[in-house]
Amino acid sequence: MLRYLITGKDGQLATEFLKRFEGEAAGFSHKDLDIGNLDQVLECLQGLKPQIIINCAAYNYVDLAESRYYDAIRTNTIGVRNLAYGAKKIGALLVHFSTDYVFDGTKRIPYTEEDEPNPLSLYGKSKYMGELSIKEELLNYLIFRVSWVFGEGRQNFIYKLLTWAKDKERLQIAFDEVSCPTSTTTIVEITLRALKERLTGLYHLTNSGYASRYEWAVFILKSLGIKKEVTPVSSAIFNLPAKRPDFSAMSNKRISGLLELSIPTWQEATLERLKRL
Ligand SMILES: NC(=O)c1ccc[n+]([C@@H]2O[C@H](COP(=O)([O-])OP(=O)(O)OC[C@H]3O[C@@H](n4cnc5c(N)ncnc54)[C@H](OP(=O)(O)O)[C@@H]3O)[C@@H](O)[C@H]2O)c1
Repeated sequence: MLRYLITGKDGQLATEFLKRFEGEAAGFSHKDLDIGNLDQVLECLQGLKPQIIINCAAYNYVDLAESRYYDAIRTNTIGVRNLAYGAKKIGALLVHFSTDYVFDGTKRIPYTEEDEPNPLSLYGKSKYMGELSIKEELLNYLIFRVSWVFGEGRQNFIYKLLTWAKDKERLQIAFDEVSCPTSTTTIVEITLRALKERLTGLYHLTNSGYASRYEWAVFILKSLGIKKEVTPVSSAIFNLPAKRPDFSAMSNKRISGLLELSIPTWQEATLERLKRL
C-alpha cells in the first residue's frame, strides 16, 4: 500500500516533501493529475489507495486570480473538494495547505485559529472555500495555514528579490505588508511531526516572529552582503489588482504547543535557505 501521494509535484513545497520521502511517496505533476478533474482524481486515488494525500497543488497567482477567478476556484476550491471526496472514499487522511490571505488584516497581533476569516482577494476567497470544502466532506484532515512560503523554485519572494537586485541599483519594497516568512523545510518538518502525533484539524504553521516585506528584504540583502539602496514604500504605489491584508501574521502557538517544540524564527529559516543558494 502506498503511504503518501503528493499533488502539485513541481511546486516548491512538494519538492521539499519529495526530497524527504525517497521512495515512500508518489508525486504527480499538474499534467499527470489535474486536481480540478474529479474523474482523474478518483481514478488515481482508487488505483493507488494512498494512506495519506498531501495536497501541494494550488493556483497561487494572487493578482491574476482577480481576472481569472474561475481558474483559482477550479484548483483551490473544486480541486480541493475533489481530493476530499476521493480521500473519504478510500479512507485516506488529507493534508492541505491554506493561506494567511484568508484574513483581512485588521488585527494588530498575530491571528489565531479562532479568528474569523474575511478574505480581501479572490485568491483568498478561493483558498478559504477550499478549507470549507474539506471540513464539509471529511473529519480526517490536517489543514495548515502557511504564509510567505520560500524554498526551491521561483514562485517566492527571495528569488524575486534577488532577480530585482541583479537588474536595479534602487529597490522599493512595501513596509505595509506584514506576515511570517515561512520555509518549506519548516513546513515539511512540522507536518511530519503532526502526522506522527496523529493530529487532525486546522493549524497555523509559520516560522516564528513576523516582518514587513521591507524588513525581510533588508535582512536578505544584508545577509548576502549585497549593497543596494532599499526604500520602504506603501504597497499602494504598485497598484496591484489584488488587495492584500496589511497585517496577516499568524501565531504558531497551537501547533508548537501540541508538538512541544519551538519553531525556528523567520530569520533562522531565511539564513538556512540563503546558505543553500
Ligand atoms: N507561495 C506562497 O507564498 C504561499 C503563501 C501562502 C500559502 N501557500 C500555499 O502553500 C501551498 C504550497 O505552495 P507552493 O508555494 O509550493 O506552490 P507552487 O510552487 O506555486 O506550486 C503549486 C503547484 O501546483 C500545480 N498546480 C496548479 N494547478 C493545479 C491543478 N489543477 N492540479 C494539479 N496541480 C496543479 C502547479 O503546476 P503548474 O505551475 O504547472 O500549474 C505547481 O506545480 C499551496 O497550497 C499554496 O496555496 C503558498
